[in-house]
Parts: sequence; C-alpha cells; structure tokens
Amino acid sequence: MPAQSLDQIVSLCKRRGFIFPGSEIYGGLQGTFDYGPLGVELKNNLKQLWWRHNVYERDDIDGIDSAILMNPLVWRYSGHEETFVDRMVDCRTCQGRFRADKLGEAQCLKHPRLCPGQCEGELTEPRPFNMMFKTQVGPVADEGSFAYLRPETAQGMFVNFRNVLDSTGRKLPFGLAQIGRAFRNEITPRNFLFRVREFEQMEIEYFVRPEEAAACHEQWIQDHFNWWIEEVGLRREHLQLYEVPDEERAHYSVRTVDIFYKYPIGWEELEGIANRTDFDLGSHTRDQEQFQITARVPKNVHSNQRLVYFDQATNRHLIPFVIEPSAGVDRGVLAILCEAYDEETLPNGERRVVLRLKPALAPIKAAVLPLKKNTPEIVAMARAIERDLKRGGDLRVVYDDTAGIGKLYRRQDEIGTPFCITVDFQSLQDRTVTVRDRDTMQQERVAIGALGTYLRERI
Ligand code: GAP
Repeated sequence: MPAQSLDQIVSLCKRRGFIFPGSEIYGGLQGTFDYGPLGVELKNNLKQLWWRHNVYERDDIDGIDSAILMNPLVWRYSGHEETFVDRMVDCRTCQGRFRADKLGEAQCLKHPRLCPGQCEGELTEPRPFNMMFKTQVGPVADEGSFAYLRPETAQGMFVNFRNVLDSTGRKLPFGLAQIGRAFRNEITPRNFLFRVREFEQMEIEYFVRPEEAAACHEQWIQDHFNWWIEEVGLRREHLQLYEVPDEERAHYSVRTVDIFYKYPIGWEELEGIANRTDFDLGSHTRDQEQFQITARVPKNVHSNQRLVYFDQATNRHLIPFVIEPSAGVDRGVLAILCEAYDEETLPNGERRVVLRLKPALAPIKAAVLPLKKNTPEIVAMARAIERDLKRGGDLRVVYDDTAGIGKLYRRQDEIGTPFCITVDFQSLQDRTVTVRDRDTMQQERVAIGALGTYLRERI
C-alpha cells in the first residue's frame, strides 16, 4: 500500500533520520528542514544521478558553481526586483498573512479547520510581496550594502556566459549545469519539503540558436520526463506534463512546460522546463541596441559586457536563446520517498514498511549482519566483509548487530537498503553468506569473494 498521506512520509523521515524540522530545539524555523544521516545520502545520490545524466553522459554541457550572493544589479536587470512577487492578503481578524492564489490551501489562524475567507475574518485587497531575502554585505549597514540571497541558481550561469565562452571555446548549442541553494521568502511554506524557504535546484541553461529553440525545448521536455521514470524510478502514471498558461508563466518565458508528480497532496510541479528566449543574456548585455533582442528587456543596463556569440557561419553576433530545465532537489527527494513508500502485511500477519528505492538512490547499499553477535568468529567475519566492501569508497555499507535478525531486516527494509548480508554458521564452514533481497525477501547464498561484484552489478 503506497503512502496515503504526507504525514506517513514525514513520520518515517523523522524516525529514521532522513529529514528533521530545521532548528527544532528552539521551536523550529518555518520553511526550513535539515537532512539527517540517511537523507543526505539520498539527496546526494539524486544529485549525482542528475549530474551524470546531464554532464558526464553528454559532451555539450559543463558544470559551474556560482556564488549565492551576487551584485544586486543582477536581480534588477533579471527582472526579479520588479516581478518576483506573490500576491498576499492579510486577515484583519486573525492577523494571518496568506498567498492570495493559495487561500484554499491555507488555514485560518483562529479556526484552523477553515480556509481564510471561509471564516468570519475580513481579508485585505491582494498586494504584491517580493520573495527575495535581503541581507547585508560588509560591516556597514546602509543602502549600498544590501544583497539578495539568490532565488534561482540560473543567474549565476547567465552572468558567466562570457567567461565560459572565453575559457572553453564552446560552440552553439551548449549548456551549463548547476546544482545549488536557492532562497525564497514564501508567504506560506507548506507540505513538508514541497514549499520551503531554503531549497536546492538542479538547473541547466542550454544556449541555442533562436531558430532551433522550439525544437530543442521539446527534446529537453522528453529527455527529463523519461529521466524521472527510467533513472529515478518514478512511475509513468504518476507523472504528467502541464502546459503553463500565459498568466502563470514567469516574466522571462515564452513557453513553459512543467513536469507534475502525483504527490499525496495532489498533482504538483516537480520540474519546470522553460524557453527563456534571449531575455536573460539580452537583459544583462551592454550595447543592447546593437543586437536584435526579441524579448522585452530592461533598458540602460549597467553591465560591462556583451553577452553575445559570434557565429562564424553567418559572420555576425547573435544573442542565443536559452532552454532551461529547472528541477527542485527537495521536491525530487519528496517524490522519490512517496514513490518508494510501501506498507504490506506478510503471510505471518506481520506488517512491514519498505522503501522500494532504486538501489542507486538507496542511502545504504548493503547491511552486514551477524546471525549471532555472541559468536566471535561470526562477528569477525562480518566485520571483515564490511571492511572489504567499503574499500574503494563507492558503496555505503553498514554493520549492525544491535537486535535480532528479524528486527534488523525490518529496519533495513524501512530505510530502503536493497541487500542484507547475513553471516551464519555455514559461513564459517564454506565462506558463503546469505544475501537477502529487500523487495522479494528471497535469500541466496553467495561466496564472500564474489560479494563485491554481486552488489556492484545490481546497483
Ligand atoms: N530558474 C527557474 C526557476 O527557478 P521555478 O519554477 O521557480 O523556476 C524551479 O523553480 C523548481 O524549483 C521548481 O520546479 C521546484 O521544483 C523548485 N522550487 C521552487 N520553489 C520552491 C520552494 N519554495 N520549495 C521547494 N522547491 C521549490
């Protein structure tokens, strides 16, 4: 039985050390979460899968890791100062603040069973609220010392366009990939990891000739839709494409298609894939009037560079279009957990929770368990297997003897460990162990010397 509500996932995450509420010992900080020992492994595995697919397996994308703090002019000319806003309403009765377009998801502070507007409270007219966090750079707090925490990683790639071209000599089409933190002062953070104030994004800015942008956009939509299914393991029927209507699209986009996942809270955005046209490079470029920029960009830009590409074929400069697949790491982690969660009743009536994660994503790949922790030869052999499998540093393997074997299996099932290796009395005779498969619970005997190959082939 899959997860019926987000509460089951939240509870498992806390209980087993995937994800904790941020600053919990001081009452928390809304919209923040901390990844625990298992969560950080799961998240890193997702990021690695993404990086491998988008950078290592292609020859047209380079990685980048740009600063979170940027000159505030970046955000003025990117359009974020003016347009990165949600509309907000206040309740004059309960003093709550709510996103005007999400009143149906919010709770009245006085009557939590009711949404604002359904109660007797009087709501103000909606007004814009900019979601960028401000901070101060340097020791003097004045008008000139503020900076924003970036609300998207994308701008770090646009402002480095010239640096990358000059240092790599790339020809169109090519792209930049970045994984990093983004910050948004969400009016109503909600639904666990789904809408938070600090999160990570996995973004690609793919630069193409304008006339190739529409077709390239389609390719990225298909490529990433398939990636979530084939490599991450989300079910086809839990994903759908959503053509974002004009009124919902960001200011820079002429077309955005979202990949929606069927979370327990309903169909919601997991990744957005936008055609950002020449808006961003055009917005940040000096001497705009010399280039044919199709997007409506801010004028009188203070950048000192021309973010243009010299096209040898036509002997002219052009401003490339940008196709941007942008996924949330945390929404990815949440989708993976929801997808993998399963509760079943075994033939003996026992209930087990099992996380059916793809082995490549599982935080722990194998657990080595001694059948008897009071038999020194068995313990020594189990410890030696653990050490041996850890050599090479590519497999996260743990040793556990803190409970009976049945309980140890359940613990590993619940955190998604695909293989449990049990050392028993026969192991001492013939140097074989049992390997138990998490999903089928079937066991087979494998020679200790073949364990490394056995696991690596299946992971
Ligand atoms: N650079 C384009 C961009 O930032 P976006 O649709 O605003 O586009 C991209 O964000 C992705 O970032 C979303 O699809 C979502 O997965 C994730 N995301 C956005 N806001 C988020 C939030 N408050 N909490 C968690 N993830 C968020």
